[in-house]
Amino acid sequence: MKLLLAALIAGSSVFASSSQRPLTLDTDLSFQSTIGEVYNSGSAPSYRASLVALHKALVSIPSVTGNENEVGTYLVDYLTERGLHAQLQFIPPSNTTSDASTDEKPRFNVLAWPGKTRNPSPKVLVSSHIDTVPPFIPYSASDDPPNADTVIAGRGSVDAKASVAAQVTALLDLLLDKSVSDDVKDVMLLYVVGEETNGAGMRYFSETWGLLEPPPTFKAGIFGEPTEGKLACGHKGHLACTIKATGRAGHSGYPWLGKSATEVLMRALIKVLDTDLGSSERFGNTTVNVGRIEGGVASNVIAEKAEARLTIRVAIAPQDKGANVIEERISDVLKSVDEDLEMDCGNGYGAVICDCEVDGFKNITVNYGTDVPNLKGDHTRYLYGPGTIFVAHGPDEALKLSDLEAAVEGYKKLILHALQS
Ligand SMILES: *[C@@H]1O[C@H](CO)[C@@H](O)[C@H](O)[C@H]1NC(C)=O
Ligand SMILES: *[C@@H]1O[C@H](CO)[C@@H](O)[C@H](O)[C@H]1NC(C)=O
Ligand SMILES: *[C@@H]1O[C@H](CO)[C@@H](O)[C@H](O)[C@H]1NC(C)=O
Repeated sequence: MKLLLAALIAGSSVFASSSQRPLTLDTDLSFQSTIGEVYNSGSAPSYRASLVALHKALVSIPSVTGNENEVGTYLVDYLTERGLHAQLQFIPPSNTTSDASTDEKPRFNVLAWPGKTRNPSPKVLVSSHIDTVPPFIPYSASDDPPNADTVIAGRGSVDAKASVAAQVTALLDLLLDKSVSDDVKDVMLLYVVGEETNGAGMRYFSETWGLLEPPPTFKAGIFGEPTEGKLACGHKGHLACTIKATGRAGHSGYPWLGKSATEVLMRALIKVLDTDLGSSERFGNTTVNVGRIEGGVASNVIAEKAEARLTIRVAIAPQDKGANVIEERISDVLKSVDEDLEMDCGNGYGAVICDCEVDGFKNITVNYGTDVPNLKGDHTRYLYGPGTIFVAHGPDEALKLSDLEAAVEGYKKLILHALQS
């Protein structure tokens, strides 16, 4: 039964290895709807039960950033029980200090690869993150047993445990198919902590992995985040800034005797919002979110201090300079409004370009941050995963099983493509 279904799927033109012969897929058909036709014909992929079970287990274990120990441990057991070599990469406490909610248990990235070799030199890195945003939301599914239309909900069901489950299933399925196992030994899985806050896990991996002798180089990195089953051409960059205004306190009946920091700040923010900070064809406009404003002490006192916190989504490349350009533009706007404005920005990055030209995939661009820029190196980058960002981080986070299963096929194609290109 299992083998027959696997053969059916592997034999269809949709899933034939794209890198060996071009897909005959009509370009107007989306990848996911084509997968849907397979379901409509009544067949389910051979891995449905194991995929659903893995996804359920991952979603059922709470892993809000800082508390990834238990889910990491589960994943290590799962991978080693299935014949992969796994390694725990502990993150030193000094590198996790900004995650205030961290529990007492150590945090670690999970690295895994086929076979027992201790020092792999993988060509392709397949990665996602095992932390989630708060609060924890329990797992639920609309049908039992599940079918292609079953809706699966819970925190992390999309972002990003759907990617984790689909990637692991894709690799195990490729290994099961002996005809590709030689290629697949060149793949490494990496599941990191801390993506939702400061990227501590991926940044630590990036720093330490590169210190090995000889330093391994990846040809490609495949990053799992919700992209609706499309291949992302990249995502906007990120810049977080605090703007402070300083005034002079006084009686509200005599505003001309003081200087209102709140008024200065408001005028400055409006001007920043109204300024074209930079756009690009691929990413659209740079956008500014004024997420938090504080200022003054009472309604009848001229405000002496005010501050605002902004998150800016940077639409201009390159990754290493785009954010600096935006920071200078905002700084110029502030200078044009008032001399008593100060700005302090964290380390930002410009728009991140990914490769989205692979046969059989539709493309998309997204506005959220990922770990893609946190992995240094000169590798081809792919950003792909099941589910949509529009439900991620919200109370109704969920996806359809058909989308989760389509992503298994998508990852298989991407892995083979990355290995052979
Ligand atoms: C980790 O901490 C060390 C020591 O404080 C620091 O040099 C390094 O840059 C940090 N790495 C990351 C990824 O935060
Ligand atoms: C980008 O900003 C310009 C004004 O600077 C505006 O006309 C345009 O509609 C914006 N585009 C989008 C996609 O919001
Ligand atoms: C994305 O897909 C559209 C439609 O097929 C295509 O016109 C566009 O060139 C693609 N974008 C990139 C960056 O490849």
